[in-house]
Amino acid sequence: MAIKTVKDINVSGKRCFVRCDFNVPLDNGVITDPNRIVAALPTIKYLVENKAKVILTSHLGRPKGQKLAEFSLAPVAAALAEKLGQPVTFVDDCVGDKVNAAVAAMKDGDVVLLENVRFYKGEEKNDPELSKQFAAIADVFVNDAFGTAHRAHSSTAGIAEFIKGDKVSGFLIEKELEFLGDKTANPDRPFTVILGGAKVSDKITVIDALLEKADTILIGGAMAYTFAIAQGAKVGSSMNEPDKKETALSALSKAKAKGVQFLLPVDHVITDKLDFAGKAVGELKVVEGDIPDGWMGIDIGPKTVKLYQDAITSSKTVLWNGPMGVFEIKACAVGTFAVAKAVAEGDACSIIGGGDSVKAIKKSGYSDKVTFMSTGGGASLEFLEGKVLPGVDVLDRK
Ligand code: 3PG
Repeated sequence: MAIKTVKDINVSGKRCFVRCDFNVPLDNGVITDPNRIVAALPTIKYLVENKAKVILTSHLGRPKGQKLAEFSLAPVAAALAEKLGQPVTFVDDCVGDKVNAAVAAMKDGDVVLLENVRFYKGEEKNDPELSKQFAAIADVFVNDAFGTAHRAHSSTAGIAEFIKGDKVSGFLIEKELEFLGDKTANPDRPFTVILGGAKVSDKITVIDALLEKADTILIGGAMAYTFAIAQGAKVGSSMNEPDKKETALSALSKAKAKGVQFLLPVDHVITDKLDFAGKAVGELKVVEGDIPDGWMGIDIGPKTVKLYQDAITSSKTVLWNGPMGVFEIKACAVGTFAVAKAVAEGDACSIIGGGDSVKAIKKSGYSDKVTFMSTGGGASLEFLEGKVLPGVDVLDRK
């Protein structure tokens, strides 16, 4: 059943505890990617326009219950005020006297941002005492933190038990559920899934879940080398998981049984040296079949690019999760960027499933041409695996 959103309730004059995911990357206190702040704006603006008292909360990083200046949300308050075009009062705590005073002073339409909820150990333990303190300052719980919806923490789930009023989602969670959920459960066909990343073990549950929905699955990244060894090929010193050969073979036979086209790379870009920290590679070659000793695969080859582009271009829905190679190094990013181009320029509804794939499509320059980019990393994966997200599960149904 669909989750209630802020639009389904009366927020006027209400104190709304809005859990956002402002876990943005920082470099010396400077926000290097404000995407998660931008993604939260529609809900915040709606609440302001509808005269709610908007109490924003979030975590930032993993301070493990310690009040550490480097994990302060103060830079987010400044960025948010600028983007909203109105003052955002920052409170340097998330519970206690200062918070109570700031909330008591709020007028309808005001916005307050509380300090990092993970400055308290109780947050990640889902401590009922902390959840009660959060619930005590609000009438309504609005969860819009999709990126943290897979965590059953005090501010994402525990609070819902104690809040007296409505428990609803914001527009970001609504949109994430629509694209990662509805659009992949009832896709316009053909539905192609592109899966990359380092490990079969990280993605096997996603593969299993998507074998139920997709027409075609395209595999890239180091995960492909585990499929290669499972089929008896040699992969040189490429990253692979020998203990996951059976898992890979079982995915292949499930795909066959279900009539899902399961494509693996037919050629590889290989190198004799990779220095990830120094962003450098040695000599580069393209091979089909076995990868010689002393060489490692770092990208899909040109024939694979063509094969994958053709599959993508003829699709009506495309879901992409995981890069095709070491896209952080320019020389190894060709396959990933070619896939990004095909996804962006095709007519399909294109959904980028979070994490590294979002980084990759941004780096490729095609991010403004895709239909939807998830703000989740772990949360997107767990949702695609079919798991219940605690931060969504606690919300009211329509
Ligand atoms: C993320 O960046 O994936 C979310 O903000 C969740 O962060 P966490 O993995 O530290 O819970």
